[in-house]
Amino acid sequence: MPESAVLGTPPSLVDTPTEPVLSVSHLSVTYPGQESGSRAVEDVSLDLHRGEIVAVVGESGSGKSTLVRSVIRLLPASADIRGTIGVVGRDGTRYDDLLALPDRTLRQVRGKVVGFVPQSTSGALNPVISIRRQFELTLRSERMSRKEIRERAIEALFDAGVRDFDLVWQAYPHELSGGLAQRVVIALAICKRPSVLLADEPTTALDPIVQADVLARLRHTVMETRSAALLITHDLGVAARYADRIVVMLHGRAVESGAVGDVVSDPRHPYTRELLASGMGRGAALLGTTEPVAGDTDEKGADR
Ligand SMILES: Nc1ncnc2c1ncn2[C@@H]1O[C@H](COP(=O)(O)OP(=O)(O)O)[C@@H](O)[C@H]1O
Ligand SMILES: [Mg+2]
Repeated sequence: MPESAVLGTPPSLVDTPTEPVLSVSHLSVTYPGQESGSRAVEDVSLDLHRGEIVAVVGESGSGKSTLVRSVIRLLPASADIRGTIGVVGRDGTRYDDLLALPDRTLRQVRGKVVGFVPQSTSGALNPVISIRRQFELTLRSERMSRKEIRERAIEALFDAGVRDFDLVWQAYPHELSGGLAQRVVIALAICKRPSVLLADEPTTALDPIVQADVLARLRHTVMETRSAALLITHDLGVAARYADRIVVMLHGRAVESGAVGDVVSDPRHPYTRELLASGMGRGAALLGTTEPVAGDTDEKGADR
């Protein structure tokens, strides 16, 4: 049996169209003070197709966040970015060079074409406004009525695993548990139905059961809506379980990439082998848990 089957990796979709929804080509990012050779991101290229999750795996400081933040251009102005990033919206609109887009167009792309789940929820949720208001602000540009916004929020929160909508809707961020806050952040990122979701270590702060549930739902949503996700994680076990393909980053470079099964069963780069030998701890624990099915979780459990 291939190791991917042991790890429970879902089979790749056979109808993956050839045109990627996200295409990163020769991306290099340099922060002030970094020399060539120690750049945050060094000549990284990757493609993401509809219905697919690609995991970017690597230790802290390997450039994962810089890579995803480049895609929505959320880097400090002092960062030097080279290369090309293209995305395709749900309606087929192509943006061939995100890095050259004027700010006004970029604002339309953010959220609507590219959704972003940042590494920390504290920065993602405004502490002084209610969850209802955060959705209204996020969906402000969509010309939706209050009722439509509410319905869209119910749908997005449901997809992110929130069952008790009424409890969350009027709440303020500090009233939510870490797990519930993270689900809200994911719901906000998917509520405009982006074709590409960037999730930067979306579950690192959560306990393993909640982590497994959130990632299983993320996977389900990507499959069902035919969107695509770049899942950043330092945990190869998480990558193996929830992604279709893996890109391994080391010191800003993509040192290995391939289908999950291939990378896990036949790692080429010594660093990947090292990760496999050492980094599976948390992921291996996850593999022992039963994957929760949509609608199957008790929200009153570990998540509050
Ligand atoms: N805003 C910044 N200014 C300067 N250096 C940064 C900044 N953000 C990240 N770096 C540096 O860039 C490298 C990659 O960081 P990062 O992309 O955050 O890696 P990861 O997400 O894999 O932990 C690290 O050496 C980090 O110290
Ligand atoms: Mg990071």
